Amino acid sequence: MYIIYQSDSGFTKQYAEMFAEKTGLECHSLYMARIKVKRNSDVIFFGRVMQGKIDGFKKAAKKYNVLAVCPVGLKMPTNFYKEELAEDNGITGNSPQLFYLRGGFDPEKTLGPEKTLINLVISDLENRGEDVDAVEAQYLTDLKGGADYVNEENLAALLEWYQNC
Ligand SMILES: Cc1cc2nc3c(=O)[nH]c(=O)nc-3n(C[C@H](O)[C@H](O)[C@H](O)COP(=O)(O)O)c2cc1C
Repeated sequence: MYIIYQSDSGFTKQYAEMFAEKTGLECHSLYMARIKVKRNSDVIFFGRVMQGKIDGFKKAAKKYNVLAVCPVGLKMPTNFYKEELAEDNGITGNSPQLFYLRGGFDPEKTLGPEKTLINLVISDLENRGEDVDAVEAQYLTDLKGGADYVNEENLAALLEWYQNC
């Protein structure tokens, strides 16, 4: 089994490498996996969340046997959000298993079209004023000021699944 990740600002990479250290599994970016990981290999895929989509997941699932997928996003890990992510990414039942991990956000590292997109999300949330719920309000604060929720403990459920599979 291999770990493959798709990361931009580094939070997803951090989780993938942390998990590799715990398990001894080989870990590669999706780009490097092209030459390091054979087609149809069993993999655990870590991908950053972008506008509800797990970046690189479709591509990884076409080539590899993804047994577990770990979206890394900024929003709070509520059951509602996990269900939404599963639905928006076509993940049904337990195949693959889904483990949502809370990453972080670094405004300094977000540039170009992604910065424009984030600015639109910020103004949309700000324009809604009192209408935003607690999850959205925290998302807004973190998008504006940055945040880092990466924590080894967040890998516990994934580790338990891995040890039993
Ligand atoms: C353009 C853009 C869209 C994003 N959309 C979401 C989202 O829909 N849900 C979420 O939880 N986080 C979202 N985020 C936050 C990232 O998922 C979060 O910063 C993640 O930890 C980045 O991982 P990376 O450092 O590996 O690139 C978005 C970030 C960017 C830049």
